[in-house]
Amino acid sequence: MTLKKALVTGASGEIGQALVQELAARGGYEIITADYMPLPDSIKRLSAEHAQGDLLYEIKKFYDYDFEIIFHLAASLSSKAEVAAEAAHRINVEGTMQLLMLAAYRSEKYKKPIKFLFPSSIAAYGLPSLEAKQNAGFVKEEEWSDPQTMYGCNKLYCEKLGTYYSRFYGQKHLDETPPHFLDFRSVRFPGLISAFTLPSGGTSDYGPEMLHAAAQGRAYACFVRADTKISFMAMPDAIKSLLLLMDAPRENLTRSVYNVNAFSLTAEEFRQRAMRAFPKAQITFEPNPHRQGIVDSWPADVDDARARKDWNWSADYDAERFFDDYFLPQIKKRYGG
Ligand code: SER
Repeated sequence: MTLKKALVTGASGEIGQALVQELAARGGYEIITADYMPLPDSIKRLSAEHAQGDLLYEIKKFYDYDFEIIFHLAASLSSKAEVAAEAAHRINVEGTMQLLMLAAYRSEKYKKPIKFLFPSSIAAYGLPSLEAKQNAGFVKEEEWSDPQTMYGCNKLYCEKLGTYYSRFYGQKHLDETPPHFLDFRSVRFPGLISAFTLPSGGTSDYGPEMLHAAAQGRAYACFVRADTKISFMAMPDAIKSLLLLMDAPRENLTRSVYNVNAFSLTAEEFRQRAMRAFPKAQITFEPNPHRQGIVDSWPADVDDARARKDWNWSADYDAERFFDDYFLPQIKKRYGG
């Protein structure tokens, strides 16, 4: 059987590790990985080749590779990107641009489709006030597109760049648009929570940090207010959404960028769930004004009706199932107790 060559950038990150494991379990892929970090043991033997280093320097070696699919996960997340905004722009935008150019060049030259899967984020939204957030309801993809973070601006722009490269790149005259073989597809993720890994540098990190700390019996000071609400998703659902979108027939897709949603909880609801499972947990609230401001600009809920309709998306884990069937059983196994 010929293996499909798949590139996963940001492979050492949370989504990367879970995705590489799932692609390997599915079979049929030769997985090439890239990350500025070495691969963690969990996926080391699953990667046929790992390019470690700055993607902008490593990318040239990939021009000879016959990728059928690229998952471009490498990014500097929202809190970290505020501390080093220009460095984040370089990673998030220039890295994506270089990889899009590579995919466009190769797919046009060999007239062979390349799918380009890009995780975007609820950070692409920006609500101007808490009042607007409370009144916004389930936010649709085209609404509130005024991100207030470098990361959010980067994600929104890269969604547009990817759409441009897959639909309009190379147009010289209106009657002469060439066929396009680069097939860019993107999901806007809510905050993601894994039972196996912890995020770093994000602003939705208070959710997973609180739960992991409670399970380990460590005290946790939550950096946002108790009433803070955004949507979250279990990592297996995040991977499911990427692979469902990858597999969807192109003719079914009415857009390049889709919301996906699972469940929405306040930080206080997280605390209560954690206390119920781990009654000795010590969780306090010590809001950090900068990080609070970021989460206050993100929607409390997003509307994923288009993903449901076009590629049959639905999350397996609502809040109940997330805790009872995924997070708590796994985390108890991991930390004991
Ligand atoms: N989890 C990301 C962050 O907090 C949002 O996509 O930056």
